[in-house]
Amino acid sequence: MSSRIIEMLEQQDGQYLSGETISKELGISRTAIWKKIKKLEELGYQIEASRRLGYRLAGKPSKLILSELLTKLKDTSFICSVKLLDSVDSTNNAAQQLAEDGAAEGTLVIAEQQTNGRGRMGRNWISPAGKGVWMSVILRPSLSLQFAPQLTLLTAVALCRALKELTTLDIGIKWPNDLLVDGKKISGILLESTAEDERIRYIIAGIGISVNLTEEDYPEELRGIATSLRIEQGNELDRTEVIAAFFRQFELLYTLYQQEGFSPIQTLWEALSVTLHKPVKLTTPAGVVEGTPIGLSESGALIVQKLDGSQVNVFSAVTSG
Ligand code: BTN
Repeated sequence: MSSRIIEMLEQQDGQYLSGETISKELGISRTAIWKKIKKLEELGYQIEASRRLGYRLAGKPSKLILSELLTKLKDTSFICSVKLLDSVDSTNNAAQQLAEDGAAEGTLVIAEQQTNGRGRMGRNWISPAGKGVWMSVILRPSLSLQFAPQLTLLTAVALCRALKELTTLDIGIKWPNDLLVDGKKISGILLESTAEDERIRYIIAGIGISVNLTEEDYPEELRGIATSLRIEQGNELDRTEVIAAFFRQFELLYTLYQQEGFSPIQTLWEALSVTLHKPVKLTTPAGVVEGTPIGLSESGALIVQKLDGSQVNVFSAVTSG
């Protein structure tokens, strides 16, 4: 009921909503509303009350609130349960544990802070408290392991579309799944698969979005190459909105993928890519590949046209240049 009050106040866009309207809509007394408003204030909501005009939402808590998250996620049938943690080593670890215990597809773990956030290639992922979206969701696609990279690309497309919807930023995807603004990284995606006999048992899709970090949150060596939505956009963003926007896009694309395969995702990825048609040097497990990426293969590999004109499919690599 309290989350419904917040929802109603939010729809007013900062204007007052009369106690009478709330009372009629929820079928509770004006005194009961007042008590709920007091409880919401204890959670960190700033609500201004006027005898004549009613209530007005003046500010929201900086911490994520589970009830608000659930309200915002209710349009997405994909998320079946949400675990919100204050602090964890890595949400990927927490989600993996849940997956091993049998948790269903669509189980989501979010943490205010990660003490040992993981990036690709064994790197650290900076995850300060209250500043970003650090989350992992369990996927249980009926898929052969070789197609797992397609889901990494799908996740990048969903995130790129969500962040473009919420900001005016020019965001592009650097292969395979980094989102860049002006050449600087704004988010990271780490999909970890567990398989049996080459069939996927589950995938943990870990997503890190640098939402409200400031320059000071980054160590010196990352300042030129990493950024946040707040730094680029010039204002704070509501992390709950970011999470909800992502899952709206993810659900749409995941359903499309299950119905029509990788081809539509491939087209969307290619349109958002900042990697294609620019010369690149890739360090792959099999050695260095120099050439120009020209597209994605059916299985989600990057097709690179080498300097000698031949083509090679690259599944994983570190880019330079
Ligand atoms: C990368 O770009 O290197 C991938 C970064 C992935 C970070 C996210 S944050 C949530 C989830 N938990 C982790 O430990 N890592 C991922």
